[in-house]
Amino acid sequence: MAAILEVKDLQVYYGVIQALKGISFEVNQGEIIALIGANGAGKTTTLQTITGMIPSKGGSIIYDGQDITRMPGYKLVPMGIAHVPEGRRVFAEMSVLQNLKLGAYTRSNKNEIEETIKMVYERFPRLEERKNQMAGTLSGGEQQMLAMGRALMSHPKLIVMDEPSMGLSPIYVNEIFDIIQEINKSGTTVLLVEQNAKKALSIADKAYVLETGNIVLSGDAKELMNNDRVKKAYLSE
Ligand SMILES: Nc1ncnc2c1ncn2[C@@H]1O[C@H](COP(=O)(O)OP(=O)(O)OP(=O)(O)O)[C@@H](O)[C@H]1O
Ligand SMILES: [Mg+2]
Repeated sequence: MAAILEVKDLQVYYGVIQALKGISFEVNQGEIIALIGANGAGKTTTLQTITGMIPSKGGSIIYDGQDITRMPGYKLVPMGIAHVPEGRRVFAEMSVLQNLKLGAYTRSNKNEIEETIKMVYERFPRLEERKNQMAGTLSGGEQQMLAMGRALMSHPKLIVMDEPSMGLSPIYVNEIFDIIQEINKSGTTVLLVEQNAKKALSIADKAYVLETGNIVLSGDAKELMNNDRVKKAYLSE
């Protein structure tokens, strides 16, 4: 299988503190890859480095055969990378529909944009019901749906998601994970960061476990679910 994303020996610092200590991993086209780990392990840092929001000190990021290590975020969206950031950052003072349209800023074909809005509304009927509501007044779960819907508007090849289930009630959690699987089945590769290791491993093909800036375990997601170290650290309730 061809790798759509190859991260090699990635090193990131915040001042003198090294948050990523040379991590390497691959995401194959069509897969769901989960990145799990405790608070502060470096998961968000990894996604933000890939999406050009923070610079790396060493290592490389290859996407679709191109070196994107030093590429700024705004260049990556038209190349097919979309980011659902941690903490559902939506534009609070804009309506749901305006938020969605902003997600399509790299596209110009109006009919295609309309089609994508329809697709997003089919996946998230709640967003259609509330299309004229200010995004800042949506509930937490609805804002999470909007953040995902907005990312889908760019018609991405690769979507990276940071804790999509954070703060959601159990019903919403299940719904969000179903939708992630649907997005993947429709052809989008998914790199998923999650605290909810159980759910993430249950839908992922492969997974990587991050501890204080290092990848300490990797493999088939279903096998990792049965790994004693993973069970003890991430799956006990
Ligand atoms: N802007 C920053 N300045 C200084 N240190 C930072 C900054 N952002 C993150 N860090 C530190 O880098 C480390 C990794 O943080 P990161 O946000 O990547 O963790 P995470 O795995 O996403 O954690 P969580 O599960 O809590 O979201 C942490 O120790 C954090 O305190
Ligand atoms: Mg994080």
